[in-house]
Amino acid sequence: MADATTVDAVTVIVTESLSKRFPRVTALDRLSVDIAPGVTGLVGANGAGKSTLIKILLGLAPATEGSAHVLGLDVTKDGSTIRERVGYMPEHDCLPPDVSATEFVVHMARMSGLPPTAARERTADTLRHVGLYEERYRPIGGYSTGMKQRVKLAQALVHDPQLVFLDEPTNGLDPAGRDEMLGLIQRVHRDFGISVLVTSHLLGELERTCDHVVVIDGGKLLRSSSTDEFTQVTASLAIEVTDTDAQPDGTGALRAALEGAGVTVTTAAGGAESLASSGHLLYVEAAGEETYDLVRDTVAGLGLGLVRMEQRRHQIAEVFRDADAAQATPAPAPAGAPRAPYATQDGGAHDVA
Ligand SMILES: Nc1ncnc2c1ncn2[C@@H]1O[C@H](COP(=O)(O)OP(=O)(O)OP(=O)(O)O)[C@@H](O)[C@H]1O
Ligand SMILES: [Mg+2]
Repeated sequence: MADATTVDAVTVIVTESLSKRFPRVTALDRLSVDIAPGVTGLVGANGAGKSTLIKILLGLAPATEGSAHVLGLDVTKDGSTIRERVGYMPEHDCLPPDVSATEFVVHMARMSGLPPTAARERTADTLRHVGLYEERYRPIGGYSTGMKQRVKLAQALVHDPQLVFLDEPTNGLDPAGRDEMLGLIQRVHRDFGISVLVTSHLLGELERTCDHVVVIDGGKLLRSSSTDEFTQVTASLAIEVTDTDAQPDGTGALRAALEGAGVTVTTAAGGAESLASSGHLLYVEAAGEETYDLVRDTVAGLGLGLVRMEQRRHQIAEVFRDADAAQATPAPAPAGAPRAPYATQDGGAHDVA
């Protein structure tokens, strides 16, 4: 307890060599990570160990070895204090169908120790914040998935925690519902100063929402860095050109010409999109203004039509793909390097930003 105030200014979560072994599977494997205040994404495929980590951090499940602190509190000793200060949105449906959102969230607020009047007031505020209005008096059993996710978020926030763990809050939502939920999550931090640890198996959706992303795979830490580091290291230009009679393969001709000029050119991201666009998109590393001029002049010189040229930030999934490509070159990977790239779960589709 004594070190809580000094620690939480810098980190809200610290784990050291944290492992969780079940009889047949190692869910967490010597995971050491520091998480600062703000919005942090915890990304990993199904079975990566995300929910296991959250349960250990809440003091709900014991680790097999290693240590973990949340807000400076030891998860093995201070579980109940942690749960007073941390909100938790579990991944699975856990809502009673026969009570209304208001009744349920008031109940959760009372369980967290709020007196009756404060519980009612906080419930009304929180349900309004998550966008539930008249529906809040109807039984939860009749709610849509999106409304249920909002109730789950509201009960995690109602006792005004310092930190919330949101386990797959966009699960089951359509694209519009996902965007709304991600917007809500950002406002939890911006408007209330609550730090957020949010899990997802979709890299793409977290890069818009999070300041920092932690990627785990098979219970091991694959990468922990700021979202900007993932996505802004390099910008690239997406270019599409038309073919002409003189240049029946305009894309190929442009690629050859640009490469001849010393520019790094790649084709569309792997997966569904690249098949669909069958290599008509070229990506060029943009070094600055001169890259735009070079592309424009090269396209004009070949007599091609420029369909589009737009700047895009790298997406997290591509950063992993690129890192993997680099490791696949003859230079041996350093001992202890991450074992595998992170496979995207969204079919490899990457929107042009
Ligand atoms: N109580 C348990 N008993 C045995 N194995 C378990 C238990 N809980 C989790 N596991 C295993 O530990 C691994 C990690 O599971 P966990 O639920 O933490 O993954 P996750 O990253 O949350 O996955 P998902 O995206 O599917 O929710 C999985 O292989 C899972 O089968
Ligand atoms: Mg899970």
